[in-house]
Amino acid sequence: MSGILVTGASSGLGWALAQLYAEPGATLHLVARRSDRLRTLAPLLVERGARPVLHEADVRDRARMEELAQEIMASGGPPALIVANAGIRGEEEGNDHKTMETVFSTNVMGVLNTILPFLPALKKEGRGRIAVVGSLAGYRGLPKAGAYCASKSALSAWTDAIRYEAEPFGVTVSLINPGYVVTEMTRRNPYPMPFILTAPEAARRIRVGLDRGRARIEFPLPLVLLVRTLALLPPRLGDRLLRLASGR
Ligand SMILES: NC(=O)c1ccc[n+]([C@@H]2O[C@H](COP(=O)([O-])OP(=O)(O)OC[C@H]3O[C@@H](n4cnc5c(N)ncnc54)[C@H](OP(=O)(O)O)[C@@H]3O)[C@@H](O)[C@H]2O)c1
Repeated sequence: MSGILVTGASSGLGWALAQLYAEPGATLHLVARRSDRLRTLAPLLVERGARPVLHEADVRDRARMEELAQEIMASGGPPALIVANAGIRGEEEGNDHKTMETVFSTNVMGVLNTILPFLPALKKEGRGRIAVVGSLAGYRGLPKAGAYCASKSALSAWTDAIRYEAEPFGVTVSLINPGYVVTEMTRRNPYPMPFILTAPEAARRIRVGLDRGRARIEFPLPLVLLVRTLALLPPRLGDRLLRLASGR
């Protein structure tokens, strides 16, 4: 049992996590559809003494992800850390049927496709860590982002259930809920993004949380408090505050 698996390593948070975990002797299994981007990243990781193994794969493709897991396990057992990070935001007006399908197939089913093939082996080994990248957007439906918020809420509930199932076997499970991070995903956002962090800083905070074995890793604190409060308010009061904040 060795190595780290990161999905969505071709940009943003996944790219920054790969760089952060690139240490002498570390094997990094990196997954994304854009293999050209993974090939650009690989030499940067080799420079730091790591051994990147690149996997061109679509997390929505369950059969491909199962095959990939078998390949990895045949070469050295299940990874010691799996970061199910690949995710998409969806269309601008993201409350419709099509966006919901697209976003759920990546953000929710893609995470299951990443983690579940390894779960029996991890439980048998009696160790290992699973990290699911959710979002603070999972606390409440936000304007024009119904599919994205719903997908992250679904991940939150699913991660709780998997943690309950896996941790008695010695497998740690963490949900990571970042606030805004500067990546390709947020680059096109036309609205203000309070307390936005760089991807390397977000990756650093994630690693600290994972090293501490936190069940839930959330940042930055002011935004965490804001979304948690918003989620506790009566729904229409929350709507009013959101309208005030967005000027719509
Ligand atoms: N940026 C933020 O403010 C923010 C905040 C909270 C949570 N998050 C979460 O952080 C995670 C990473 O997002 P990011 O901000 O780093 O965005 P990003 O720069 O757009 O990166 C998304 C990554 O996911 C991969 N991906 C998307 N669909 C995929 C698929 N079907 N199969 C395989 N890989 C796929 C992309 O690779 P390919 O396109 O090459 O496949 C890319 O590497 C997401 O789960 C996102 O929801 C982001």
